Amino acid sequence: MKVDKKNFSTLWLENNKIKIIDQTKLPFKFIVKELITLEDFCIAIKKMQVRGAPLIGITAAFGFATSIHKDPSARNIEKTYNALLSTRPTAINLKWALDSILSEIKLIQKSRRGIKSLELAKKMREDDILNCIKIALNGYKIINEVYKRKKRIINILTHCNAGWLATIDWGTALAPIFLANRNRIPIHIWVDETRPRNQGALLTAWELKNENVPHTIVVDNAGGFLMQNNKVDLCMVGSDRTTFNGDVCNKIGTYLKALSAFENKIPFYAALPYSTIDFQIKKYSNIPIEERDGKELSHLAFKKGREISIAEIYPKESKKYNPAFDVTPSKFITRLITENGIIKPNMHDIKKYLVL
Ligand code: MRU
Repeated sequence: MKVDKKNFSTLWLENNKIKIIDQTKLPFKFIVKELITLEDFCIAIKKMQVRGAPLIGITAAFGFATSIHKDPSARNIEKTYNALLSTRPTAINLKWALDSILSEIKLIQKSRRGIKSLELAKKMREDDILNCIKIALNGYKIINEVYKRKKRIINILTHCNAGWLATIDWGTALAPIFLANRNRIPIHIWVDETRPRNQGALLTAWELKNENVPHTIVVDNAGGFLMQNNKVDLCMVGSDRTTFNGDVCNKIGTYLKALSAFENKIPFYAALPYSTIDFQIKKYSNIPIEERDGKELSHLAFKKGREISIAEIYPKESKKYNPAFDVTPSKFITRLITENGIIKPNMHDIKKYLVL
């Protein structure tokens, strides 16, 4: 996607160096970072310089390849795998990426492990772009159908950031939106602020602005009001982990939006690649929900002049609780938009559309 008329992706290779955009500084500063050591990769994921389930997975894949290239021993493979896996617990793409590479390299000669891991990471990166384009095409069909029926501006509500910054390029939930806008379907996006890290207000709004998509930022609590007053035609969100039976784990607050959509008979879509589906988990209560530092609630980044500062916005004395994700049971999800098609959120369809 374009940033100031120049094409960017979120992670790329430049003269054999791995580069990322530091998302903790967006939209105020556009800073490119190089990741060199395993620790750099772990910090990038942990501190959310990269974030979003697909991007976390691919960053881990490159981190794994970098470390194995230096030391392909079984001991280092185990150490690297564990270090990367422990960075963030909820997005399953992380485990998916590491397991996919591990299963391919453990049976080959030590001397080939580094090169093979890098090849696989590069392929994952390319596949991610293709999958997001397919998600764009599939989700576009839904938006176009609603437009043909209503023949007016289509209002879409989204939560968190599931745009190109959460993947390598294009995104998941925002991909169909970008495509619809490029194809001149009149749309308007309600962007949930997404407290506490404000991925909606900071990242989604920035992406939409760069693509000239009409949008409005709202506080997270506005969704119910908007839906009750016919201001939302459909909701589109991403996913960090979807269970085999179609329950969608996504950024905290997604569940409340889905409940409101259900009550107001508004279709609720989750867009995700198959790498976000956890085939081992059928019961959503088994998904590990990341609990983040309470400081994310009480300390807010803001821009003053050219500088970014941190403000403390609560009194210190109160306890804080900061779960980062919640789960929306499949009964509240209209369809899953995947690279393989638009599918019902149930085990039967998830299995049927799986391409091996
Ligand atoms: O904590 P983050 O920013 O990594 O969480 C990302 C999300 O929850 C997004 O909603 C996204 O849809 C999932 S990844 C496309």
